[in-house]
Amino acid sequence: MPVRLGVLGAGIIAKSFMEAAPDVADLEVAVICDVAADAARKLAEPQAIEWLRDYRAVLADETIDAVYIALPHHLHEEATIAAAEAGKHILLEKPMANSLDAADRMLLAQKRAGVKLMLGFTHRFHSELESAKQLIEAGELGRPTLAIDIMTTGGVIPAWFWRKPEAGGGVLHVNGAHSFDRLRWLMGSAITEVFAYSATYDSRKTVEDNTVVALRFANGALGTTTHNWVTDAPVPFKCDLDIHGTSGAIRIDTWHSLEFTNANHSWVRRRLRDDMFQKEIGEFVSAIREDRAPSVTGEDGRRSLACVQAAYESARTGKPVSIDD
Ligand SMILES: NC(=O)c1ccc[n+]([C@@H]2O[C@H](COP(=O)([O-])OP(=O)(O)OC[C@H]3O[C@@H](n4cnc5c(N)ncnc54)[C@H](O)[C@@H]3O)[C@@H](O)[C@H]2O)c1
Repeated sequence: MPVRLGVLGAGIIAKSFMEAAPDVADLEVAVICDVAADAARKLAEPQAIEWLRDYRAVLADETIDAVYIALPHHLHEEATIAAAEAGKHILLEKPMANSLDAADRMLLAQKRAGVKLMLGFTHRFHSELESAKQLIEAGELGRPTLAIDIMTTGGVIPAWFWRKPEAGGGVLHVNGAHSFDRLRWLMGSAITEVFAYSATYDSRKTVEDNTVVALRFANGALGTTTHNWVTDAPVPFKCDLDIHGTSGAIRIDTWHSLEFTNANHSWVRRRLRDDMFQKEIGEFVSAIREDRAPSVTGEDGRRSLACVQAAYESARTGKPVSIDD
């Protein structure tokens, strides 16, 4: 029997989910839900899927095994806890929640219910990041010493992303969530301290749109992560990560290429296409079917959120902030 799944939230990212879902083995998307009926209908009808407006009706359906939560951030906590209490496995979009207390309540509900909780850190499934992880784990860079992570972009996104009560935070909460997760994962080491500068250039926003964060890792390595989304103009998306080690380096241009150099090798691999969403959803379905933890957990979501929150505290106080991983 396939895993029967309900999609909660039929916005921008749910569209990407629905493009990938038909190619995931053992998965049946049974229902799509959005308070905006047009959004739900638009996504559901091309694949002849049922649609609803109230996500609690999805959770009340005993034939549904799992949900994909792609709602605005302030709803992540209530939807995750309600889904866990209804016995549904959960694939939750990043960022996990708008506070660490909320993340703790979500983890508690998940543990009590004994359901799977996976965070939608898509970068774990990009082929150039997967290859980088293999190179680092094989020791091809020696000991990682420095990570330089940068995500800068522009363009119009739904208005709630720039409103603190719904979004919970700005560009660091939205995109930095990916950065902190991929940095910790690739460096193979926890982030133990941050020092941040943060600014807001657009007066319509109540969250930051420009940040620079310096990092220390538990293994002694250093790093930076930089995020900018100031303009509505569709400026090119830059999403790069350089990692230097004691005997080599890699340069990742996410979505495009991986460059690797050490004393013995030097090559560039360009990506033509990737199926990272399909791999992410496939991992969630496999974890359910094999009754094991997914490769990206709720705890990973909380760790990333702890870094974001520590960076906010640093920017506010002007002091470095330690993080207990
Ligand atoms: N993994 C990624 O790379 C990635 C990319 C983009 C967005 N995201 C994340 O996905 C989530 C959704 O972002 P988005 O860009 O799709 O936003 P969006 O605004 O396009 O979609 C959210 C949808 O939720 C619906 N909604 C709001 N309240 C609801 C409720 N109570 N019940 C049912 N539906 C409700 C809205 O009508 C909207 O259609 C966010 O957590 C965001 O950070 C992740």
